[in-house]
Amino acid sequence: MDNNTIIKSVEYIRGITDIVPKIGIILGSGLGEIAEDIENKIIIKYSDIPNMPISTVKGHAGQFVIGEFSGKNVIIMQGRFHYYEGNSMELLALPIYIMKYLGVENLIVTNAAGGVNTNFVPGDLMLIKDHINFVFNNPLIGKNHEKIGSRFPDMSCAYSEKLIDIAKEVSNNLNINIKEGVYLMMTGPCYETPAEIRMIRILGGDAVGMSTVPEVIAANHCNLEVLGISCITNMAAGILNKPLDHAEVMEISYKVKDNFKKLINDIVGEI
Ligand code: HPA
Repeated sequence: MDNNTIIKSVEYIRGITDIVPKIGIILGSGLGEIAEDIENKIIIKYSDIPNMPISTVKGHAGQFVIGEFSGKNVIIMQGRFHYYEGNSMELLALPIYIMKYLGVENLIVTNAAGGVNTNFVPGDLMLIKDHINFVFNNPLIGKNHEKIGSRFPDMSCAYSEKLIDIAKEVSNNLNINIKEGVYLMMTGPCYETPAEIRMIRILGGDAVGMSTVPEVIAANHCNLEVLGISCITNMAAGILNKPLDHAEVMEISYKVKDNFKKLINDIVGEI
């Protein structure tokens, strides 16, 4: 990612607000409602920002919301970009670098995911301990800009243990049962086959989805602390004897939204 590309996007946002957000939050499918609770909010449509791709998926609003949440300055991505929409991996890193340049230090990444671990049930929330990049592509391929980060970023602690501990404590206090596991990214947009899900289980995946990994790689590249939370919206293909569809994903994420909101609210308060 070219430094000038990022600066151009950041300058546009800086022309609208000089709030310095310290926490970035990416809201996954059906989880966008938290953005309604932001105080003193400024909304900036992705389509107005130079160089940003356009979000095309149902359930993704396509805008940055900047303001106060739980007493902190935050920037929320209400809707994200996916590889399966035809975006390059490199472009998926742009919003992360924009948030970094605006002042973000901690990034909370959320998504809807299929449960591969059979101890999970739809509606569970899972803290992402680690991930598997099953896309065989990487947002950092290409020229590296040392200003942003190193050529070979360390990924041995991609998800911050400190933030995981905060999330566990907060969920305990809220009486929300939270799972932990490994997130594996497939390109999508089709859901997986039952054979692929059996493979993912053997490889160590607990949940499967079509996002998050490129963003977390970029976040580690530019030294953000990352917390990842998956909302298990369905059991992955072949685990239950029923077909998968996006409406079910949206319905379950809608059902967990209150718990999810409380959790994010208190985590932000504790960071
Ligand atoms: N597979 C991939 N992505 C998903 C799923 C799934 O089962 N559910 C929600 N996002």
